[in-house]
Amino acid sequence: MRIAFLGATKGMGRALSRSTAERGDSICLLGRNSIDLERSAADLGVRGAVGTVACIACDLENSATFVPALAAARAALGGLDAVVVTAAMFATQDELEADAALAEKLLRIDFSNTVLFCEAAKKVLLQDGGGTLCVFSSVAGERGRKPVIIYGAAKAGLTRYLEGLDHKHRAEGLRVITVKPGFVKTSMTAGMEPPPFAGEPDAVARRVLRAIDRGTPVVYAPALWWLIMAVIRALPRSIMRRINF
Ligand SMILES: NC(=O)c1ccc[n+]([C@@H]2O[C@H](COP(=O)([O-])OP(=O)(O)OC[C@H]3O[C@@H](n4cnc5c(N)ncnc54)[C@H](OP(=O)(O)O)[C@@H]3O)[C@@H](O)[C@H]2O)c1
Repeated sequence: MRIAFLGATKGMGRALSRSTAERGDSICLLGRNSIDLERSAADLGVRGAVGTVACIACDLENSATFVPALAAARAALGGLDAVVVTAAMFATQDELEADAALAEKLLRIDFSNTVLFCEAAKKVLLQDGGGTLCVFSSVAGERGRKPVIIYGAAKAGLTRYLEGLDHKHRAEGLRVITVKPGFVKTSMTAGMEPPPFAGEPDAVARRVLRAIDRGTPVVYAPALWWLIMAVIRALPRSIMRRINF
């Protein structure tokens, strides 16, 4: 498979890119930090990625980089079978309420610019007859929750966008996969107290890779979060107002 990753220098993206390298896929890394990209590429090469792992500049904050980066990725790999988006930012609800510029930045990176990147990726994939667009959203988008109101709203919008994209393009051969992680121990959650059912990036990667191969449209990772969110979705508003989940 020829795969382009946006956001694979850390966390779940890094774990997933390593899993694909280990099975001999060809990989192109998109990102904003050239030193991190080169270091990650060298690591993937050692793990078995086919050919030279290409590194291409792409900043999710800057939508002007999206089309050229995806075109360069397609040229570097001789076509694209899959695009994976794990890049995103997180800030706490307190931080976002105290800083409107930070809130605007998070909404742009996690929602509007991710949508624009997916629009560009969709066109590139459809040009070659379809493929897989795998994007990491979050369980935070499933309900309005006090600790993640703004981040959750961005992820809720992203989840709905991806659902619509899957409905529109599946018949043309484009498989859109929405990953909804629960709490996973990565640089994004460093310093937070992990809940007892927190996940590890490598286990998430194995689950997501299976979903990519099968074309499963929605994946909760770790799997237990499907059950947790089924309960949360069923709670009445009167309870949601009282709990701090
Ligand atoms: N960890 C969790 O508990 C959790 C839970 C729910 C959902 N998620 C979602 O899962 C996805 C992956 O999360 P993670 O925990 O693996 O995150 P992570 O460890 O923080 O890694 C994020 C990746 O995104 C890249 N990135 C950030 N801003 C970027 C930008 N402006 N342009 C290009 N690349 C950028 C980072 O690269 P740099 O080296 O350039 O920073 C890094 O490679 C995200 O969508 C996140 O919202 C995570």
